[in-house]
Amino acid sequence: MGTPRRVGPSSYFDPARIGALDGETASLVRRRLAVLGPAYRLFYEQPLQIVRGEGVHLYDADGVEYLDAYNNVASAGHAHPRVTAAIAAQAGVLNTHTRYLHEGIVRYSEELLATLPAELGHVMFTCTGSEAGDLALRIAKHHTGGTGVVVTRNAYHGVTTEVAAISPSLGGVDSLAPWVRWVEAPDAYRVDPAALGFASLGEWFAAQVQTAIDDLAAHGVRLAAFVADSVFASDGVLPDPAGFLAPAVEVVRRAGGVWIADEVQPGFGRTGDAMWGFERHGTAATALVPDLVTIGKPMGNGMPIAAAIMRPEVIEAFGREVRYFNTFGGNAVSIAAAQAVLDVIRDEGLQANAAHVGTLLKAMLAELAARHPAVGDIRGAGLFLGIELVRPGGRDPDEDLALRAVNGLRRRQVLIGTAGLHNNVLKVRPPLVFSPTDAERFAGELDATLAEAG
Ligand SMILES: Cc1ncc(COP(=O)(O)O)c(C=O)c1O
Repeated sequence: MGTPRRVGPSSYFDPARIGALDGETASLVRRRLAVLGPAYRLFYEQPLQIVRGEGVHLYDADGVEYLDAYNNVASAGHAHPRVTAAIAAQAGVLNTHTRYLHEGIVRYSEELLATLPAELGHVMFTCTGSEAGDLALRIAKHHTGGTGVVVTRNAYHGVTTEVAAISPSLGGVDSLAPWVRWVEAPDAYRVDPAALGFASLGEWFAAQVQTAIDDLAAHGVRLAAFVADSVFASDGVLPDPAGFLAPAVEVVRRAGGVWIADEVQPGFGRTGDAMWGFERHGTAATALVPDLVTIGKPMGNGMPIAAAIMRPEVIEAFGREVRYFNTFGGNAVSIAAAQAVLDVIRDEGLQANAAHVGTLLKAMLAELAARHPAVGDIRGAGLFLGIELVRPGGRDPDEDLALRAVNGLRRRQVLIGTAGLHNNVLKVRPPLVFSPTDAERFAGELDATLAEAG
């Protein structure tokens, strides 16, 4: 039988350690396990019972405050009063579905699409990012007549059967469907394109995508889509160098496939330089516009709303031949939440704040990295940062240190997680209302934690 393969980051709580918890926490963990079963995970060696949130702060059952540098869903800040008020007001009036005319969904769609390149003309609502990815794939397959999909080595695109089958981060590359091929992540820290005979990271990445497409073809599978998180979050947060995706997109289109930009994590201003993560892959002269885009997570600041967005030509035949309805997708209350989020992003300048505070934080991290040789790389865009921890004298991933750092920060009341194939990249993506003072607190606590844990 061998050793069972561990699935997911090692920073998850290990149920074998229930005995080490205080009585009250242990009892709640046991009750939870009894009802929710074995597939769920809890964060941290000491699970947290969060009961309240406000702005960038979370509070546990004892009233202890935590700096939230992890949660990208409550992007406008936890319990944002304007979002809360919009949800409550709409819930008190009407909550129905998309089979009735309603001004709210039309206005929101118009305003949302106005934030995207003009080529992306339609939006279809779902409740989760997984459903959005599932729908985008169905549309892509219908449009192209192909079924093949190319993804990156540790991609995560969701939990429905269709998107779990293209998500190696869930069950490893062996869990992928036969119509899926994976390529190594575009890791500028580890891949040296020149040493491999390529002019740039983008050319190297495109060559891999081409090989994957050729292999699909050799097995009689035509390409439908290349699906990529625009900042490659689960592959270790890999947003740079800007523009590197363009050659791969060209290869995909030449093979008759479409590019699905998964914006569930980078979208809605998080990358600071733009509203949408894919925008960093174009140039000032030429925008790189996806065929389909999936969005979710921060869209409703915690309300279950997500969407697939597409070029009209991609959905034309699907719209004629297949109808679409999603009972809760685009309901009036979720739309009210999403409208309030969009208003807050605009009125509070959250994209500009992500750019400003993200730059400050990166500089603080670069300064502390000089004291900690285990910090191999600091990268990111806006308020989506990755801090890669490595073993002394090289670039070997140090997962154990990352685990100690995550739990050490949690003890210091700062919440983050890990990312990457080797779980050695500290993933920092706080609510977008993160301030310079929050950034200072984060950097100070990380400094102290690495000094202890290193
Ligand atoms: C990049 C990416 N795509 C898709 C999803 C799926 O979204 P959801 O959990 O809302 O189904 C996630 C969720 O973590 C994600 O990170």
